[in-house]
Amino acid sequence: MTTDHPAPQVQDTPLAFDPVLQAWVPLAPGAWRAAAPERPVMTISFRPWAGTDLPVFRDMLSDPEVWRFLPEPFPGALSDAVARDLLAVAQVTTFHEVRAAVLQGTPIGQTRLVWDAPANPGAAPVSAEFSYWLGRAHWGRGYGRRIAIKSTGLAFARHPGLTALWARVHPDNRASRRILGEAGFAATGRSTADGWAILSCPRPEGSAMDRIAALAASPLR
Ligand SMILES: CC(C)(COP(=O)(O)OP(=O)(O)OC[C@H]1O[C@@H](n2cnc3c(N)ncnc32)[C@H](O)[C@@H]1OP(=O)(O)O)[C@@H](O)C(=O)NCCC(=O)NCCS
Repeated sequence: MTTDHPAPQVQDTPLAFDPVLQAWVPLAPGAWRAAAPERPVMTISFRPWAGTDLPVFRDMLSDPEVWRFLPEPFPGALSDAVARDLLAVAQVTTFHEVRAAVLQGTPIGQTRLVWDAPANPGAAPVSAEFSYWLGRAHWGRGYGRRIAIKSTGLAFARHPGLTALWARVHPDNRASRRILGEAGFAATGRSTADGWAILSCPRPEGSAMDRIAALAASPLR
């Protein structure tokens, strides 16, 4: 229904026409609307690191908390030279695939696939280790969950020969254990020599792009 008449009011309460109920209903009070502002849907995307990312890359990785549950030891606050070297390694494409996770134009973390050596030399790899990290300023907002689900889905979508991903998780890293479970990783019952649990994620049934599309449609917390 459309109307050229002004919306009616009941005892000073403005009304709006609800096309589903096909009836005039009270507009939500102003205070309620102010408490629940609409937020735009923000999308995290992935791209190779660029040389211009050096300052943000260096600053995020100069934090020992970010390294606490990563397999490599904290190398100390990064100098520009060390950060440049690490960026250069991240840009190599022969043994791994590293991506900056980008939110509104700014890198907030990283994902990495390290290809396992295929059984037949020269064949395409069928499995890879997945790892990821976020700069500490971005923790606790649901970005980690979103990055893991989206980037593992993209990995299967972009690499048709990939049959499984695996990840190792420190026993105290409850956040990542939870996130990886939601991304499709399950315990294998195996662990590394230093006690990190080994999780495995088989190629999902159906289209990975369906999962990514559903995720992309949901707003960030
Ligand atoms: C692990 C990491 C990626 C989590 O990212 P995040 O964006 O803070 O996580 P999210 O906001 O998506 O939270 C995911 C879940 O973990 C929980 N969580 C977050 N931090 C937690 C903590 N310190 N302890 C316990 N649970 C935690 C959240 O409550 C949430 O669960 P819920 O929504 O079901 O309640 C981030 O802390 C990080 O980069 N850490 C350093 C590197 C690292 O550990 N990488 C993973 C290696 S396997």
